[in-house]
Amino acid sequence: MEQLLQQIEALKTEIAAFNDGDAEIFRIKYLGTKGQVKAIMGEMKNVAAENKKEAGQLLNEFKLFAEAKYETLKTASGNGQQTTTNEFDLSLPADSLPLGSRHPISIVKNKIISIFQRLGFAVAEGPEIEDDFHNFTALNLPENHPARDMQDTFYISQNPDWLLRTHTSSVQVREMQKGKLPIRIICPGRVYRNETISARAHCFFHQVEGLYIAENVSFADLKQTLYFFVQEMFGKDVKVRFRPSYFPFTEPSAEMDISCLICGGEGCSVCKKTGWVEILGCGMVHPNVLDNCGIDSNKYTGFAFGMGIERITMLKYQIKDLRLFSENDVRFLKQFTSAV
Ligand code: PHE
Repeated sequence: MEQLLQQIEALKTEIAAFNDGDAEIFRIKYLGTKGQVKAIMGEMKNVAAENKKEAGQLLNEFKLFAEAKYETLKTASGNGQQTTTNEFDLSLPADSLPLGSRHPISIVKNKIISIFQRLGFAVAEGPEIEDDFHNFTALNLPENHPARDMQDTFYISQNPDWLLRTHTSSVQVREMQKGKLPIRIICPGRVYRNETISARAHCFFHQVEGLYIAENVSFADLKQTLYFFVQEMFGKDVKVRFRPSYFPFTEPSAEMDISCLICGGEGCSVCKKTGWVEILGCGMVHPNVLDNCGIDSNKYTGFAFGMGIERITMLKYQIKDLRLFSENDVRFLKQFTSAV
């Protein structure tokens, strides 16, 4: 009797663990005429007469347990008629996997890069944690210069000289310091500003800045380069205008507007009824910046520009709230395709 109990227990454990998934294999192995359940039932004849009642009950329970497992396997495999084991039907269509899509900021960034690459600009990258020199001082923004207020940022408490870069102009400084001329680069990347988060401002955003330094580079080169960019980005019908502006690192400086894409220049809420929207800042690199970076400002001139990718993306796709870009709501993100 003791032995029978042990046998039942062992078989129960085995059956419970059976996960081959094939109901027919299970049936043959355990419930068929030569199966193990049948075999153990046959043990009844060896049980002493006084134990027969108890053993009969246990064996019956065990049989029900095995039959229940068989039913479960049958349901799990859809039918009990499978004939082969572990067979995959390779002709069946694959399970559909949800496909992700590129983030709109990445789509537009790649588009901007490809336009400037066609003009011979190479991509340069640099660190997001910068020092004061590369982010400010080298760019003609000495300590306590009031223009630093326009770009307040986050400082690293470990070292008061470290900060999160406010623009990718810091990458331009690093390239200029290498001293290999001419320079023709664009610098895409994430930048940070200490601003209150709203529909139009965030504590981080993305930029593409550009720099061209060689002999005899003029403002005409700057205008033509940016005009080409705008036409490739927004279409041939778009108009541009340059307004005088101020940046410590360029002289003269300008802001470039494009004719409003929403109303075509008629005046609407996006362009605040002016017909124009600002898209970037630019200018001729200030001689002090060239000198600070070890470039002879008597021999070389250059232009620089910088734009926010979020801004370009908002205009291109008519997105009204900057916060959507970082909320990671797939219902928003999946609306954009790489085919811009
Ligand atoms: N660095 C400026 C900014 O982040 C943009 C800029 C770049 C302006 C180069 C002029 C020339 O606001």
